[in-house]
Amino acid sequence: MNAFEAITQRQGVICYKPDPVDRDLIQRVLQAATAAPSPANTQPWELIVIDDAALTRQVAEYLVDTQAEFVFRQLLGTPEPFIEHLLKLYDEFYTTPCFIILCRNQRTELAQSEHAATVRDWDLCSIGAAMANLMAAATELGLGTRWFGNPMMDPETLHQMLGIPPEIEIIAVTPLGHHDEQPKVRPTQSLDAHTDFQRGDKYKLAALLQGKLALEDVVHFNKFGG
Ligand SMILES: Cc1cc2nc3c(=O)[nH]c(=O)nc-3n(C[C@H](O)[C@H](O)[C@H](O)COP(=O)(O)O)c2cc1C
Repeated sequence: MNAFEAITQRQGVICYKPDPVDRDLIQRVLQAATAAPSPANTQPWELIVIDDAALTRQVAEYLVDTQAEFVFRQLLGTPEPFIEHLLKLYDEFYTTPCFIILCRNQRTELAQSEHAATVRDWDLCSIGAAMANLMAAATELGLGTRWFGNPMMDPETLHQMLGIPPEIEIIAVTPLGHHDEQPKVRPTQSLDAHTDFQRGDKYKLAALLQGKLALEDVVHFNKFGG
């Protein structure tokens, strides 16, 4: 698999086999993550690997609970019966063998204090790039991942569970593991799925979660709209 295939065939995976992930493979995806660009090469990340069986279960439970409460219920306003339906998708998630937590550590005072917000934005971009690298490398190695942003909505629980110092900001968590899911055939998605989206409408949410927008809908040559 080449880099283009690894990037375009990546998909978010929810169900993992319980088989442990070899530490050599974990090392490879970490290496890919930390090869990402960052402002002035500040590398504002910490990566926490959880592959102890008791802890992975706790992290999985935390992610599903946080997903239900903060993402489905509070953020998206999903109706309760549909939340119940969605949570069934996570039945096999609890035995996920490994999680990687990407955190922000602003260990370098890069800019003058009035630019702190810009630096934080840049750090988030860098961590996004690290996560994208990690996910592509995992795909190439036959491993699944899925970006969970919901820990940003309840970081305290994870800070306490894993002894993460308060100055380390949790940005995202991904499971990492072997899986049986075949790459989805992704239809080109119509812009309507986005413009018609209404919170709480399960059909419109399902439509939003389908394919990817066509290049011509989001790419502009030489001028916006070109
Ligand atoms: C910043 C960010 C936050 C996300 N947060 C969540 C999340 O909290 N829960 C979840 O199940 N998926 C989350 N996702 C995964 C997206 O839902 C997923 O990437 C999207 O549906 C597209 O599917 P794909 O990853 O298979 O391309 C997040 C993705 C990103 C980039």
